[in-house]
Order: sequence, then C-alpha cells, then structure tokens
Amino acid sequence: MALQLLPSTLSVPKKGSSMGAVAVKDTAAFLGVSSKAKKASLAVRTQVATAPSSVTTSPGSAVAKPGGKKTLRQGVVVITGASSGLGLAAAKALAETGKWHVVMACRDFLKASKAAKAAGMADGSYTVMHLDLASLDSVRQFVDAFRRAEMPLDVLVCNAAIYRPTARTPTFTADGHEMSVGVNHLGHFLLARLLMEDLQKSDYPSRRMVIVGSITGNSNTLAGNVPPKASLGDLRGLAGLASVGESA
Ligand SMILES: NC(=O)c1ccc[n+]([C@@H]2O[C@H](COP(=O)([O-])OP(=O)(O)OC[C@H]3O[C@@H](n4cnc5c(N)ncnc54)[C@H](OP(=O)(O)O)[C@@H]3O)[C@@H](O)[C@H]2O)c1
Repeated sequence: MALQLLPSTLSVPKKGSSMGAVAVKDTAAFLGVSSKAKKASLAVRTQVATAPSSVTTSPGSAVAKPGGKKTLRQGVVVITGASSGLGLAAAKALAETGKWHVVMACRDFLKASKAAKAAGMADGSYTVMHLDLASLDSVRQFVDAFRRAEMPLDVLVCNAAIYRPTARTPTFTADGHEMSVGVNHLGHFLLARLLMEDLQKSDYPSRRMVIVGSITGNSNTLAGNVPPKASLGDLRGLAGLASVGESA
C-alpha cells in the first residue's frame, strides 16, 4: 500500500498490505504524538554515520545551473530496515542513480554500515541513522536526529518489519506492545505522524510516503490463507501489556 502525496517516479514493489489498519485519531493520542515532554530526553541513543556530502538543504527542488538551465536537486529518501532484504536493495538501487541520498534508518548501526559497504554503496550516497521501531522513544530520537542533520525529507519508505507467525510466546517492545504490532505498525505510525510535517515541507516533485505491506495479512488472497494465518487472534498476545502497565 502506498500513500502518495504526489505522482512520482519512485516505486517499491507493492505486495498488498497488512499494515495501516490503526485508527489514526485514537492512536495519535495513544502514542502521545503531540506530547512535548518526551522530547527533552531525545538524542541520547541516536547515532549518525556518514554526513551526506551532496545533500542540499535548499527549500527549492530546482537548482539553477550556470547556463540558466534548472536541474532537480538530489532527493532525500528515508528507508526503515535498510540493513537487509528489500530495504537494502531499494537503498542501493536509489543511491546508485545518483538522484537520491539515502538515509538508512536501522536498529543495528554496525550491521547497516557493513551491509551498505558490502552492497557497494558509494560513500556520501547514504547516511546510517539509528532507529529501533520497538521503542517509541527511539522513534522520537530518530526524528530529532534527522531534523538536526538539516536534510529535507522527500520520500519516507516504511519498510522494516518482523514476521514471527510460529512464535509460541509473544515478545514485547520497550513500551509493552506485542513486538510485531509495535514494530510493524505502532513504531511506523508514530514515525509517519512525526515526519509528515517534514514531508509536507518538501517541494520535490515525487515526494511521497511508501508503506510496505504483505499479502500474508490479506485473508482474501491465496498467500493470506497459508497457515498460520496472520492475525491478532484473541488478543492474548497483548495480555502482557497489563503487567507492563503495573510495573511502570
Ligand atoms: N520477504 C518476503 O517474502 C516479503 C513478502 C511480503 C512482504 N514483505 C515485506 O517487505 C518488507 C521487507 O521485508 P524483507 O523480507 O526485506 O525483510 P528482512 O530482510 O527481514 O528485513 C527487515 C528489516 O527490518 C528491520 N527491523 C526489524 N526490526 C526492527 C526494529 N525494531 N527497528 C528497526 N528496524 C527493524 C531489520 O533490521 P535487522 O537487519 O537489524 O534485523 C531489517 O533491516 C517488510 O515490510 C515485509 O513485510 C516481505
């Protein structure tokens, strides 16, 4: 599922969606998007790797050339979970065009740096920044660090995900949410909500937000009916929330 802000030339394979079912209004309050209190503790765990060498912070998307001809500035794309799989492939492909500076938003900083190097991504074509979607504080810290880096935001790709259909016991995020709901949905929801403001400032012709999903979450598809079916079940996986709440 891709939420397009404007028509674009960038596309990520669309495989249906198991994401985006969160009720926006209620969840915004739930996640405390507008809370300023937590911002004070930002920036502690965030790491930033290479400084982008060729990214302009100019608000205009067109840069004038000496001959008077205008050319498009390099776009900035943030990709979550860019340390492997589809995220890494997209990061590499976009960086190689020379038209995009890629911000690899990853929970394992070293793994992402090594993956970028192993993939042959050129120095200066990407920036690795720490983002752990299993922690809402980390999401806020990422947004703060991204803004401090003074890059425009033209495209956000919400790609990172975990898939543990055979796990026998649930695991929980730092905030006490069941891990796959927390990482795939709530962490990304907060990230998207916070970065929407930055995205709306972009004057890039192909600005957009892309949300990568999976047909495994669609019970009206063949893949969505392969057991074990993706489901929140009877919400027993969320039962740990109560004890987390008590101990907090
Ligand atoms: N592979 C498929 O067959 C398939 C099919 C349908 C849809 N998709 C969708 O495609 C997207 C990418 O899948 P993929 O197969 O490329 O997966 P993948 O190779 O397992 O990569 C997942 C990425 O998400 C990151 N991640 C996991 N937990 C995170 C967290 N707490 N915070 C930040 N990042 C986290 C991983 O980081 P680490 O490297 O640190 O683990 C990794 O970079 C997902 O949205 C998935 O649902 C995949």
